[in-house]
Amino acid sequence: MLNSVSRTPSSWPIYSILCSILAATVVRSACVDNSTDTAGLQKLLTEGGEGYTLSLCAGQVYSITQSLNFTNTSQEISTEGYPTDSTRAMLVVSGPKTPQVNHTTAVLGDCENCDFIRIKNIMIDGDRDLQNMAPLPGGGNIEIGGANQGQIVENVRSFNPRGWSCLHIAEGPFACSNATIRGNDIGPCGSDYFQYWADGVSLSCANSLVENNDIKDATDAGIVIFGSPGSTVRNNTISATDRVMLGGINMVDFDPWQGNFSNLLVENNRIYGGFADEYGNSSLGVADQPAVIKLGK
Ligand SMILES: *[C@@H]1O[C@H](CO)[C@@H](O)[C@H](O)[C@H]1NC(C)=O
Ligand SMILES: *[C@@H]1O[C@H](CO)[C@@H](O)[C@H](O)[C@H]1NC(C)=O
Ligand SMILES: *[C@@H]1O[C@H](CO)[C@@H](O)[C@H](O)[C@H]1NC(C)=O
Ligand SMILES: *[C@@H]1O[C@H](CO)[C@@H](O)[C@H](O)[C@H]1NC(C)=O
Ligand SMILES: *[C@@H]1O[C@H](CO)[C@@H](O)[C@H](O)[C@H]1NC(C)=O
Ligand SMILES: *[C@@H]1O[C@H](CO)[C@@H](O)[C@H](O)[C@H]1NC(C)=O
Ligand SMILES: *[C@@H]1O[C@H](CO)[C@@H](O)[C@H](O)[C@H]1NC(C)=O
Ligand SMILES: *[C@@H]1O[C@H](CO)[C@@H](O)[C@H](O)[C@H]1NC(C)=O
Repeated sequence: MLNSVSRTPSSWPIYSILCSILAATVVRSACVDNSTDTAGLQKLLTEGGEGYTLSLCAGQVYSITQSLNFTNTSQEISTEGYPTDSTRAMLVVSGPKTPQVNHTTAVLGDCENCDFIRIKNIMIDGDRDLQNMAPLPGGGNIEIGGANQGQIVENVRSFNPRGWSCLHIAEGPFACSNATIRGNDIGPCGSDYFQYWADGVSLSCANSLVENNDIKDATDAGIVIFGSPGSTVRNNTISATDRVMLGGINMVDFDPWQGNFSNLLVENNRIYGGFADEYGNSSLGVADQPAVIKLGK
C-alpha cells in the first residue's frame, strides 16, 4: 500500500524539493488580495524587479491611498485571469484631498526604467466628489509615458478622475515612444460645468497607437492629441451621452511638441453626440457651437 511505503532517507530530499517547487508555483500564480494595503502593494512592485506582474484578484476593490508606482522594466498590473467585464479588480483613488496633498493618480508609470510596462484588465475609479466636481491639481487616473517606450494600457476601465484626465501619456523629455492604448472603456471624465472638464485619453507620446477604445462622457476632449508625431489614432468610439463634450478628437496646442504633428494619422473613428466648444463661460454656461474634430491653437 502506498501509505505504508517507508521513505528511505535518500528519497526525502527529492520529495521536499518537489514540494517546494509545487509551493513556489502555487504562490506565483495566486493573486494579491485587497487585505494588502497600498504600501504592501508598492513593496511587491519595488521588490519584484524587472518583469514582475502584480496580479490583483477578480471581484475585489482596492482602496489605494497613494499612487501605485511602476519601478522597473516590463512590470505589469493586471487582474488574475484577465477578465474584461465588471469582475476586473477595481482600484479606488482614496488618498487625501487637503491643502497639503491631493491624491489624484492611481497608477504611475513614468520611472526611468519603465519601458514596456503593462496595465491590463483592471478598473480605476478616481472618486471625484460628485457634489463638488472641480478637478484637483495633480495628474490623471493613469499617468504613464516619460522617457519610455513600448508601454501598454489594454482592457482597462478608467472613470471619474479627480484630476484633468482619465489617462495621460506624458511626453517627458520628448523621448516617449510607441505606447499602445487599446480596448479600454473610459469615462465619464470630469464635469461639463465650466472649467471642471477632464479628457478621456490625453496622448503626448510619439509613434503611439490608440485604437479600439470606447470613450463615453469625457467632458474636455474624448481624445486629445498633443503633437505625438508618428502616432496613429484609429477605430475608437467616442460619445457624449449625459455630459457635454468640448471635442471628440482634438489635435491641439503648440506646446509641448512645438507644433510637431508630423506623420500623425487619425482615421476611422466614430464620434457621436452634440458637442460644445470652449466659448461658454461661467454665466452663459456651455456654448452651443459644435466642434467634432478640432485642429490647431
Ligand atoms: C530592476 O530589476 C532588476 C532585476 O530584477 C534589479 O537588479 C534592479 O535593481 C531593478 N531596478 C530598480 C530601479 O529597481
Ligand atoms: C475587498 O473587496 C471586497 C469586494 O469588493 C469588499 O467587499 C471589501 O470591502 C474589500 N476589502 C477592503 C479591505 O477594501
Ligand atoms: C509613488 O510616487 C509618488 C510620486 O513620486 C509618491 O507621491 C507616492 O508616495 C508613491 N507611492 C507609494 C505607494 O509609495
Ligand atoms: C489640493 O486641492 C485644493 C482644492 O483644489 C487646493 O486648494 C490645494 O491647493 C491643493 N493642494 C495641493 C498641495 O496642491
Ligand atoms: C512597440 O511596443 C510594443 C508593445 O510593447 C512591442 O511589442 C513592439 O515590439 C514595440 N515596437 C518597437 C518598434 O519597438
Ligand atoms: C473596430 O471597432 C469595432 C467596435 O469596437 C470592433 O468591433 C472592431 O473589431 C474593430 N476593428 C478592428 C480592425 O479592430
Ligand atoms: C517632428 O518629429 C519628428 C519625429 O520625432 C522628427 O523627425 C522631426 O524632425 C520633427 N520636426 C521638427 C520640425 O522638429
Ligand atoms: C460671458 O460672456 C457674455 C457674452 O460675451 C458676457 O456678457 C458675460 O459678461 C460673460 N460672463 C463672464 C462671467 O465673463
